[in-house]
Order: sequence, then structure tokens, then C-alpha cells
Amino acid sequence: MSSDFSAWQRAVQAQMEQTLENFLPLIEQEPKVLHEAMHYAVLGGGKRVRPLLVYAAGELFEADEDAMARAAAAVEMIHAYSLVHDDMPCMDDDDLRRGKPTVHKKYDEATALLVGDALQSQAFLVLAEGSLEASRKVAMLSRLAQAAGSYGMCGGQAIDCAAVGHALSLQELEHMHKLKTGALLEAAVMLGAWAGKTLLAAESLALHAYSQAIGLAFQVVDDILDATADSATLGKTAGKDAAHNKPTYVSLLGLDASLALAEKLRQDAHVALLPFGDGATRLRELADLIVQRKA
Ligand code: IPE
Ligand code: IPE
Ligand code: MG
Ligand code: MG
Ligand code: MG
Repeated sequence: MSSDFSAWQRAVQAQMEQTLENFLPLIEQEPKVLHEAMHYAVLGGGKRVRPLLVYAAGELFEADEDAMARAAAAVEMIHAYSLVHDDMPCMDDDDLRRGKPTVHKKYDEATALLVGDALQSQAFLVLAEGSLEASRKVAMLSRLAQAAGSYGMCGGQAIDCAAVGHALSLQELEHMHKLKTGALLEAAVMLGAWAGKTLLAAESLALHAYSQAIGLAFQVVDDILDATADSATLGKTAGKDAAHNKPTYVSLLGLDASLALAEKLRQDAHVALLPFGDGATRLRELADLIVQRKA
């Protein structure tokens, strides 16, 4: 990764922190505990990979600044909500997230449930209140809703919960990963692009192929890191998948084949970007980051 990429990454991350804070309800307003817990869940942590994807795709298509900021904030709010619910005792029962106690530990379960609910609503509000023409906003709202719902992230989480302790086929595992994690990453890429110029059909297809590859790669690497990294590095409890008998790429294929698959997906992502030439450097570097990250 070039130093230029690192500087860009840090700049987007810093900007996102401010943007997210601006788009969250004020802590001073009632209900204060809920608003404070929403800030706790969203701010001060996370790699912000989805906003980085929005910005990288947006910059490729000369997107409007405000539209990119809103798309990035909306996708990150949906993601933060998914983490809050994913950590609850009824799901993965985790105590640590982004190096801090999980929301249900810091507050309580009812608050964690409501934080997720309210972040999801806030995400759609942030998109809806943007200044793009209505037809483009509807397309973005619809894409995000599909990615978050029962045919996307929630559907994947449902399959994950039902699969605990069961053997999944490789095809079933891939389907689960594509829904629970891939769908939202794909939406990040497409919303970023849609915040800019109208896409040609070939450009849409290329972006779709790229986002499918990095979407699956992200969860394959998450599975690898759960099995190989430590909790302090991850900011979340390592080794939980095996402890909870979760079907993962590591449990099904083993570590070496999982690493090889992640690398193949990284290359697939690069190939998909070939039609964009140098304009897609940031997206290419993000594919590298997603596969080569250590946390
Ligand atoms: C973790 O996502 C949950 C998955 C979808 C695998 P991230 O690894 O992007 O978590 P943060 O946002 O950096 O905390
Ligand atoms: C979570 O997958 C995917 C979500 C939609 C939140 P994991 O359960 O593997 O995520 P981590 O490892 O807890 O971050
Ligand atoms: Mg989970
Ligand atoms: Mg989890
Ligand atoms: Mg995991």
C-alpha cells in the first residue's frame, strides 16, 4: 500500500468521524441515553472500510461531495447497527467490539436493540434528506434496503444463526457470507458510484464483479483473522467462531485454502477493475487492504 493511499485513507476516516457525528441525533436531546449509546456504537472506532469504498467508487465517477458523505454515513450506520445486534447474547454474545465493551454490556440489551433499530432508521433518513434528484435517491434507498434486509445482511445473519453446529456445504457457506457481509460492501461500492455520473452498462458490470469479489473476500478474511489474530489486535474477541461452533471458511476448508481463496478473490477484484485503468487505483488498493489487513 502506497503512502499516498495511507494518507487518503486517514483523510477519509477523519472526515467520516465528523460526518457521522453531524448526522447522528444530538446527545443533549431526549432520549439522551439512547442518543448517547448511538454515538458510542458509531464513533471512535472501526476501520471504516465501507465509507472508504463509497469514496473510492464515488471519486472514480466524480461524485457530488454531499451525496458521497451521505451514502458513506448511511452504509456505516447500517454496518454499526449490524455489529450491535450481532454482539447481543441472542446472536454471537460478544463482550468486546472496536476495543470497547459492546453496547449491551456498556448499557443494556433493550438499549442495544433500540440503538440498532434507530441507527437503521437514521441511515435511511440521512440518504433521503440529501439534495440529489429524487429518482437517484430512491434508487440508492432501494439498493441499501435490499442489501440490509432479508435478501441481504439480515438474511445472511439468519442463515448464520441457523447454521451453528451444522455442516454447511461450500456453496451454502459462500451464499451465507455473500449475504451477511458481501451485500452491504457491494451496496457501498454501488452507492458511491451512483452518487456520481451515470454509469455505462459495462461499467456497472465491472463494478458488480469487483464488489462481489471483495464482498466475499472480506468475510473470508474475517474468518481467518478470528482463527489467527489476537483480541487486542482485532478489538473483538478472537477465537469465537470455533468456540461457538460457527461454520466458517477456516472450519470448512482449513487455513491454507482459505488464504488462497482470499488471494484469488483479490486478483479477481483487480481483473474486474481493468476497464477503469488508473482511475480505479483506490478501489484496487482497497481490495489489497481487505485481503491483506491484520485486523
Ligand atoms: C466486522 O466488520 C463484521 C463483518 C461484517 C465481518 P469490520 O471488520 O468492517 O468491523 P469494523 O467496522 O472495522 O469494526
Ligand atoms: C458479522 O459476522 C456480520 C454482520 C452482519 C455483523 P461476524 O459475526 O463474523 O462478525 P464479527 O466477527 O463478530 O465482527
Ligand atoms: Mg455473527
Ligand atoms: Mg460476531
Ligand atoms: Mg467474525
